[in-house]
Amino acid sequence: MTIVADHIQAIRPSETKAMTARAAALRAQGREVITLSQGEPDFDTPTIVREAGIRAIREGRTRYTPVPGIVPLREAIREKLRRDNHLDYSIDQITVGCGAKQVLFNALMASLNPGEEVIVPSPCWVSYPEMVSLAGGKPVVIPCSENEGFKLQPEALEAAITPRTKWLMLNSPCNPTGAVYGAAELRGLAEVLRRHPRVWVLADDIYEKLVYGASKFASMAEAAPDLFDRTLTVNGVSKTNAMTGWRVGYGAGPAELIKAMNTIQGQTSSHTSSISQYAAIEAIGGDQSYVPEFVAEFQARRDLVVERLNRAPGLRCPMPDGAFYVFVSCAGVIGRRTTSRQVIRSDTDFAMYLLEGAGVAVVPGSGFLAASYIRISYASSQAELIKACDLIVAACAALSGEQAA
Ligand SMILES: Cc1ncc(COP(=O)(O)O)c(C=O)c1O
Repeated sequence: MTIVADHIQAIRPSETKAMTARAAALRAQGREVITLSQGEPDFDTPTIVREAGIRAIREGRTRYTPVPGIVPLREAIREKLRRDNHLDYSIDQITVGCGAKQVLFNALMASLNPGEEVIVPSPCWVSYPEMVSLAGGKPVVIPCSENEGFKLQPEALEAAITPRTKWLMLNSPCNPTGAVYGAAELRGLAEVLRRHPRVWVLADDIYEKLVYGASKFASMAEAAPDLFDRTLTVNGVSKTNAMTGWRVGYGAGPAELIKAMNTIQGQTSSHTSSISQYAAIEAIGGDQSYVPEFVAEFQARRDLVVERLNRAPGLRCPMPDGAFYVFVSCAGVIGRRTTSRQVIRSDTDFAMYLLEGAGVAVVPGSGFLAASYIRISYASSQAELIKACDLIVAACAALSGEQAA
């Protein structure tokens, strides 16, 4: 007999967090481990933002705030969405939560009746299917192949829609693949959705600013304005502004949905920290000149990592367009033997081999519903990335040449 509810036992713990914990355990034993499993920028929160947080404490902004967030923050978000995405929301169409994560969860809790379906293109962020299940819905995972740039194709979307479909969850740039949907690709998906007026879009734009080269970010409600009334646009300060620990994310969408999300938040966390909200006004509405510097550094790291990993026998590393991850095919090492004669049977075996044999922590692709891949975060210094890539190349070179049956 367990105290844990049945529906919770079915929820998978985050593979990303599990890998980070394994790396920490090895480090505690005195091993040197380079962690490339993290989902957060290694940069410090910009000084002007930290100062805004300190000012909020000094000024005594330490009491409860309105559930959807303080008005000046929602004003700053409204202005940001207008400026960057040409989307016109009113204040009551915006809600602020403890990170984009809580906003996504609130949206699913607020909208899903038992058994209603949510289409989740995979590879996908570890939390999407689990959040859908927690909210009583049914995740419908659609695998998107590397040949298709890991992106959902209109025909696959059409085929997945049923009378029970409530949402399509779209994440661009994508964690874990770095795939970026262009405006034309979003319009291709919108074309399908137009035939299914009951299906809503959850656009997770959290990596919006982390786009490289010729790629251009596009948000669904902007690319297909006629879907504005059935799109929830989600974003936050964690990735763009290096503020993961401050826990500020937001959602913008039809007032009826936002109101229901606020009802859930009002009965659970109430709101995110008042101090974080004041700091976020600076992050969203203040000077953003550090963002292009972050982006340039991430792009240099991406180029470095892709070039070096492609030297590893058995690995293939496509060039991603956004976010701060590479999603590397390890199909070519599966079936090979380590020097201690152990056969690598899966991406998880390979990730364990890299951790224990090379001292590099990465996340197996199966955590993102895509076996035979590993996800490597390049949110680390270039020196550390070079060291880690060299260790990975050496670890791959040390595997037997023959793939076991
Ligand atoms: C795709 C995606 N969405 C949302 C989040 C959550 O971000 P936040 O820190 O705002 O909760 C993450 C964080 O890893 C993510 O990768």
